[in-house]
Amino acid sequence: MSRDKIVAGNWKMNNDSNQTKTLILELKKTMQMEANVMIAPSFTNLSIAKDLLLGSKIEVIAQNMHFSDSGAFTGEVSANMLKSIGIETVILGHSERRKYFNETDDQLKLKVDSAISSSMKIIFCIGEEIGERKNNNHFEIIYDQINNSLFHLDKDSWSRIILAYEPVWAIGTGETATLDQIQEMHSMIRKNISERYTQELANSISILYGGSVKPSNSHDIFSLEDVDGGLIGGASLNANDFNQIINSI
Ligand code: 13P
Repeated sequence: MSRDKIVAGNWKMNNDSNQTKTLILELKKTMQMEANVMIAPSFTNLSIAKDLLLGSKIEVIAQNMHFSDSGAFTGEVSANMLKSIGIETVILGHSERRKYFNETDDQLKLKVDSAISSSMKIIFCIGEEIGERKNNNHFEIIYDQINNSLFHLDKDSWSRIILAYEPVWAIGTGETATLDQIQEMHSMIRKNISERYTQELANSISILYGGSVKPSNSHDIFSLEDVDGGLIGGASLNANDFNQIINSI
């Protein structure tokens, strides 16, 4: 079964409006796409990015959203607001959101439900800390993250879910998980989904890897059986590196 190949750039809190314009123009100039390509600028630059990419196949996505439609939540942005500027996909559950903004599995479940009821797609991030891997708890941690925020969904809703396995210890550290560690976790995730739903559903879900992906390792990572692309942080801020990663799929 062929799954969607996706390369998504998570810009995190980088690039002001001028830098956003410059990077997008560079990307447009050189990009040839086999994969579905997404970029996630900050909220303030989503509209700028959408305008610059009008008619392009590069999808502009959001890094986060609140679970309510509207209301007294100072500083937050809702699914409706994102949809109203043409954003169809949101990253949820990134480890930086979990760690620095105390997002819990229960809150993420509410966000997932809100995104799905707004007909959005979700890149849902999961990943273990280094201590959890050292204690050999990594499979359990990942299972719990998926179970607590996603396993209440019905089968149809899963057509809106893309998973991103991002071991926390590999994010921004230059230390990539080994190919064995990546394949082992991705196939375990697929097995968990097949046991909760069906093998067919499990085979249809794109599972991305994230954590220090760069041009020198992306081809090997993307060639793994259960890897369907990547969620790229640092290397997505450089047009040349991001293009090389996209072309390696
Ligand atoms: P790096 O590619 O910088 O390690 O970041 C990965 C990531 O967190 C993407 O969401």
